[in-house]
Amino acid sequence: MSQFLDVAIETAREAGAILRHEFDRPKEISYKGEVDIVTESDRRSEALIVARLREHFPDHAIVAEEGGGGGVGAKCCWHVDPLDGTTNFAHAYPCFAVSIGLAEEGQPVAGVVFNPVSDEMFTAARGEGAYLNGKRIHVSPIETLAQSLVATGFPTHQRKRSANMNYYWEFTLRSHGVRRDGSAALDLCSVACGRFDAFWEFGLNSWDTAAGILLVQEAGGKVTDMNGEPYRLGGPQTLATNGRIHGEMQEVAAIAGRAAKGS
Ligand code: IPD
Ligand code: CA
Ligand code: CA
Repeated sequence: MSQFLDVAIETAREAGAILRHEFDRPKEISYKGEVDIVTESDRRSEALIVARLREHFPDHAIVAEEGGGGGVGAKCCWHVDPLDGTTNFAHAYPCFAVSIGLAEEGQPVAGVVFNPVSDEMFTAARGEGAYLNGKRIHVSPIETLAQSLVATGFPTHQRKRSANMNYYWEFTLRSHGVRRDGSAALDLCSVACGRFDAFWEFGLNSWDTAAGILLVQEAGGKVTDMNGEPYRLGGPQTLATNGRIHGEMQEVAAIAGRAAKGS
């Protein structure tokens, strides 16, 4: 596994350097949807990552957000978000990352999330623990939602009447607060290192989560859908917690789900 992780780390650092350099410059923005932004930096970062992965692992498939991947059907597949947090990046809000995850038959086995502004490299390999800049990390020891800081995100493609507003409301009433930082990959890393006690979101893609969910699991946390069913890469719901408040998160999610249906 270390060969995969070493290449992913080196590649994320290289792609991160592109993003860090371009962060201070004027951005060329175009729109994939009503508010779904893409910049030239997303594309440049992706081109570099895909080239490096192809060079090292020509037999592996690559699913990359901006469409640069290929090789469907291979046992090993890289899930690449070349810039997670594009809206933040475009607005000069320094919260974004490169996320590179490797899955074997659909199960994440290695993952790297790199924040080039804070210079934080989150890494994990299946069965080998989770690390931040080489130091072992663990989820928080918090036991109740009432003492928790939690996080969520809202997909750019489904703005109107998002059911997540109900979840946001219910979790805000029952916790220390709900953060919406704009990078799902970093949100997951924050659960892994204990900054957040839980994170949930609807409609994430495999490139947003492949690395981050492995980080949470390897840091001792739990990842399922909102009903506690096993998490499926690219599935419609993601609930990642420190494990201890997972049941409570599910209970409140059920309340919010009923409220969303009634509204
Ligand atoms: C987005 C971010 C955001 C989440 C959105 C994602 P992008 O990814 O992770 O936090 O709420 O659902 O699409 O578009 O910046 O790569
Ligand atoms: Ca993303
Ligand atoms: Ca992206």
